[in-house]
Amino acid sequence: MFEHMNWGKKNRLGSIVAPDGRALMLAIDHGYFMGSTHGMEKPAQAIEKLLPYVDSLMLSPGILTTCIDPAFDKGVVLRASGGNSILDPDIDDEELILSAAQAVRMNASAVAVSIFVGSEHGHQTIMNLTDMIAQAAEFDLPVLGVTGVGKALHDRKEKRYLSHAARLCAEMGADIVKTYYCEGFEEVAAKTPAPIVVAGGPKLDTYRDVIELTWRAIREGAIGVDMGRNIWQSDYPAAILQGVKAVIHGNASVNEAMEIVNELSTPENARRELFKVTDQDIADSAVH
Ligand code: 5RP
Repeated sequence: MFEHMNWGKKNRLGSIVAPDGRALMLAIDHGYFMGSTHGMEKPAQAIEKLLPYVDSLMLSPGILTTCIDPAFDKGVVLRASGGNSILDPDIDDEELILSAAQAVRMNASAVAVSIFVGSEHGHQTIMNLTDMIAQAAEFDLPVLGVTGVGKALHDRKEKRYLSHAARLCAEMGADIVKTYYCEGFEEVAAKTPAPIVVAGGPKLDTYRDVIELTWRAIREGAIGVDMGRNIWQSDYPAAILQGVKAVIHGNASVNEAMEIVNELSTPENARRELFKVTDQDIADSAVH
């Protein structure tokens, strides 16, 4: 998959993509435009019990430096685009928020840049990606291209749009592409000559939905997930994460993964207990 790359890039990608060719990335970068999101009120506490099950973390530079122990030895995918807020009319007005050199100084395994293809600031966001790819090439730093949708493009999480946006990321030179799962996802994967990880999106109704999304995405060509809210907004985050992991790294069926999730959905694994959030924290945070 990464044979054509230099040693430095392969080495960095090795902390994101496991030897089995699969990737389980936990996305906690949402605060870069959402602020204190429901489930991620206290990032350090929220992820503490989840870290053993992930290959890498996707997060913003400020959360890395304030909430993550420097001894952390898994992959770090740093959010490198931003400057937007959920309070803006839309979220596509992004620029680069850090340089490749800064990311390397923080020992990042990769950087992530979103593009909002077809939106008002679409061109600017694609140029953010190409700018970062050029900078990152100096350091053999991998780049994750993210196909964002935002408010105006919200209903474009479908195969024609996502094939187009994911292909653009690959054409610009992204080493990994993050997009959404959709009906007909095989076509998105087939038309994207770069490995794909899928986001989970807003919280789904059931754990089975989350497991099925993961299972289908893998079966239809994704190498893994970069999932956030469906893990840490759930009532039993470590349980659903281990179910997702069983599908990604253990080739578990949906039923096998659900057995794991059900077995681990115990009171001591409950989010309130695990994340040490209070009713006030929850009342104060936004739900998206
Ligand atoms: C925000 C992101 C998120 O990391 C991404 O959407 C994954 O999280 P979720 O599974 O909650 O959708 O890139 O722009």
